[in-house]
Amino acid sequence: MEKAVSQRIETFGSKRPMTDVIATDGAALSAELHAMREALFPPVSQKTLRSFSSVESAKLIGIADAYLRQLSINGKGPRPTLSPGGRRYYTLEQINELREVLDENSKGKMYLPRRKEGEHCQVMAVVNFKGGSGKTTTAAHLAQYMALQGYRVLAVDLDPQASLTALHGYQPEYDVGANETMYAAVRYDEHRRPISEIIQHSYIPGLDLVPGNLELMEYEHDTPRALAEKNAEPFFGRVATALGSVADQYDVMVLDCPPQLGFLTLGALCASTGLLITVHPQMLDVMSMCQFLLMASDILGVVQESGGNLDYDFIRYVVTRYEPSDGPQTQMVGFMRSLFRERVLTNAMLKSTAISDAGLSKQTLYEVGRENFLKQTYDRAIESLDAVNGEIESLIKQAWGRSS
Ligand SMILES: Nc1ncnc2c1ncn2[C@@H]1O[C@H](COP(=O)(O)OP(=O)(O)OP(=O)(O)O)[C@@H](O)[C@H]1O
Ligand SMILES: [Mg+2]
Repeated sequence: MEKAVSQRIETFGSKRPMTDVIATDGAALSAELHAMREALFPPVSQKTLRSFSSVESAKLIGIADAYLRQLSINGKGPRPTLSPGGRRYYTLEQINELREVLDENSKGKMYLPRRKEGEHCQVMAVVNFKGGSGKTTTAAHLAQYMALQGYRVLAVDLDPQASLTALHGYQPEYDVGANETMYAAVRYDEHRRPISEIIQHSYIPGLDLVPGNLELMEYEHDTPRALAEKNAEPFFGRVATALGSVADQYDVMVLDCPPQLGFLTLGALCASTGLLITVHPQMLDVMSMCQFLLMASDILGVVQESGGNLDYDFIRYVVTRYEPSDGPQTQMVGFMRSLFRERVLTNAMLKSTAISDAGLSKQTLYEVGRENFLKQTYDRAIESLDAVNGEIESLIKQAWGRSS
């Protein structure tokens, strides 16, 4: 305490106000991060999606590698690129083309699994007010997994920290301008814009993004004023209204929420058809989640009385950064399963250096090739991610009334 006070006096003494120091540090960091991105994704400093080996492509489509080779020999579907070693590589566009070719001749099985008439757009909110519980990692991998399966996906960044946006190759303060986030689509004044004008295509075919940046915080300031005025659409319905206006273009939407139960998060809770509550299985995290559940139920009760929609197809707790060899964590997962039963996802997201290392270069593990890691490390992590996301995909299909 004393140290903090003396530091402040020193700062004032040198006539450099703390706000100035913070602003300078922020600007320096921002410029440095910009330069790092240029170096990371040359030559245009933009991200692109890699191509997939024939083994990976066959697995994504759900057919044997030999059958995929046969299709290529028979000239059916797109021509893969050949590596100097003669290996076949497909882009995601080509994989989706192959899915369409297969669907033309398939009897029942859907290779391109997009929703049909009568199946409603699934909106997944990834929530918990515990910071670092794995919301963004879960949201990004789920959104990309679904796009890789051939679904039409909209990923929405509702967090002013904008980590989901950063993972998709944007530097929030450089690349996302004023009135270009979800705030623009939910704001109360005459500057409100249709969400269709804000949505950006990402470098992943089938995955669009509503980016975020600090401007999202404005909604938390505006809403109390709007509540007093009482003539606007209530705050809890505005995210749903914005998303609803483009729902016919997507199969799945994934909302990455900030680590707080603010007005935007409440809007996301009212817009969603499925809730994914991420939790790291440690005592303090679980205790924090308990506070989140109690607070959320209190507030949502009031929202529901005022006409908010809280009708979910499913609610699931997603165990994140799990270390099965850690006794206390395993006990904590057991404790949660005994309490919440089937609401805890059967598969957990394992803690893996592959996932955190991919994050360091602003990528998900789906974007980085296996050759960049120890094979065992990569396989273990990707298996865990696929298992979690596959389980969520099954829940989505169930909500659509499909058997598998
Ligand atoms: N399965 C995992 N294995 C290893 N590291 C992980 C894993 N999941 C998340 N992490 C790391 O943990 C950190 C926090 O994760 P993440 O950003 O997803 O949490 P969050 O809940 O979105 O945080 P915030 O509340 O700040 O938005 C990140 O550095 C991420 O790389
Ligand atoms: Mg986050």
